[in-house]
Amino acid sequence: MKNLKVGIIGFGTVGTGVYKVLQNFNNIEIVKIAVKNINKKRDIENFNYNLLTDNAEEIVNNPNIDVVIEVAGGVNPALDLLKIAIKNKKHIVTANKELLAKHGSELFSLAKENKILILYEAAVAGGIPIIMPIKTILCANKITKIAAILNGTTNYILTKMGEKDLSYDVALKQAQELGYAETDPTGDVEGFDAAYKIAILATISFNKKVDINKIYREGITKITAQDIKSAKELGYRIKLIAMGQVLSDGKIDVRVHPMLVAKKHLLAKINNATNSIMLSGYPVGDLVLTGAGAGAEPTASSVVGDLLVIASELESSNNPLPQAICNHSQIANQINIGDTFNEYYIAINASNNPGVIGVIGTICGKNNINISTIMQKGINEDNTAEIVVITEVSKESDIQNALKEMLHSDCIKKIDNLLRVMN
Ligand SMILES: NC(=O)c1ccc[n+]([C@@H]2O[C@H](COP(=O)([O-])OP(=O)(O)OC[C@H]3O[C@@H](n4cnc5c(N)ncnc54)[C@H](OP(=O)(O)O)[C@@H]3O)[C@@H](O)[C@H]2O)c1
Repeated sequence: MKNLKVGIIGFGTVGTGVYKVLQNFNNIEIVKIAVKNINKKRDIENFNYNLLTDNAEEIVNNPNIDVVIEVAGGVNPALDLLKIAIKNKKHIVTANKELLAKHGSELFSLAKENKILILYEAAVAGGIPIIMPIKTILCANKITKIAAILNGTTNYILTKMGEKDLSYDVALKQAQELGYAETDPTGDVEGFDAAYKIAILATISFNKKVDINKIYREGITKITAQDIKSAKELGYRIKLIAMGQVLSDGKIDVRVHPMLVAKKHLLAKINNATNSIMLSGYPVGDLVLTGAGAGAEPTASSVVGDLLVIASELESSNNPLPQAICNHSQIANQINIGDTFNEYYIAINASNNPGVIGVIGTICGKNNINISTIMQKGINEDNTAEIVVITEVSKESDIQNALKEMLHSDCIKKIDNLLRVMN
């Protein structure tokens, strides 16, 4: 295989993982590594600090570098650096989901113009091979549906809430202490990270550019210990689900939100920080891929895998596999959350008066909603009752109208939560 000279931008969790794995490959030379703080001590035995620079332009403008590995994260300065690298005809391997979800089109067009590759297996579900399989061995398929757990932090928090009856705040704190959640967990717990990943995955699966700004996104911060408990009693687990589907009229439904997942469903069994992707396509049928969605070593597996693909592509023809090039001329026609159809879980706080269940039933009926289960969860000290409703498949806009109407009735005090259900 061709000797490859690489520059690495970023030397944190993923960058050091990649560095360590690359020590096993004699034909790959690390020429330079860019970091933010050049004086930081690096936890690597016999590390040659001369490799470090705090000026990433030394990598993207270096004529001796064939491939730039970008594992710094964020949009700035990664976007500008990669544009320079591409114009300088360097192939790119990146783990940066945020950059690709927000600026993928621009980068892939520039890459096509310059006949270079951008590979990004690590950007979605860390160590799980999903991008390259969709673009290569699955390319005969029409993929119509994806449902996935793509964020380890939120899955860890929800798992612990379920196992130990913890509140969200306590489970988050424990996740932070154990290194599963960052000090500022917003990107994970509000669903941004999963939204970036499903934007990338839906784009390549459905062959149409999915706009990150049109993805409905809801995180897990409003999930209560009571929701988890009620879900369990009803035979469900709560998971943050990233999903995408092609509807019968060709429109695309892509979203990220917590769901009650029936406990017999494969995704309900995915616990702790593990990721899992279910994909349905013709002719392959249903596939499930499960594994580590993050961590230095699993992520390095994907980054180094991409790097070796580039090395072998360059050696074989200097013309990369067409499938490896990412180019989506069609724009996805994405639907709004109001136009989606789901089963719903509604947690209601109401006065403990006779007739309350009747009021809820009447409002649901008026809004085309069939109730499949309704149960009262007990009476609070203030003489209000906790009521849980599970609906049959209903339109989201009908549900929202019903909730508004419920809040106008005298006996319904509060809608504690509204979650979608997956059976
Ligand atoms: N962590 C995972 O398991 C995982 C999994 C899949 C994908 N990813 C993605 O991989 C990327 C890196 O994640 P990470 O967890 O490795 O991050 P990290 O541990 O925070 O490391 C970031 C690295 O980038 C360097 N850096 C920051 N700004 C820079 C700049 N302007 N120029 C040069 N270097 C700069 C930092 O330098 P200093 O060391 O000097 O601070 C640090 O070495 C992100 O896009 C992330 O979403 C991560």
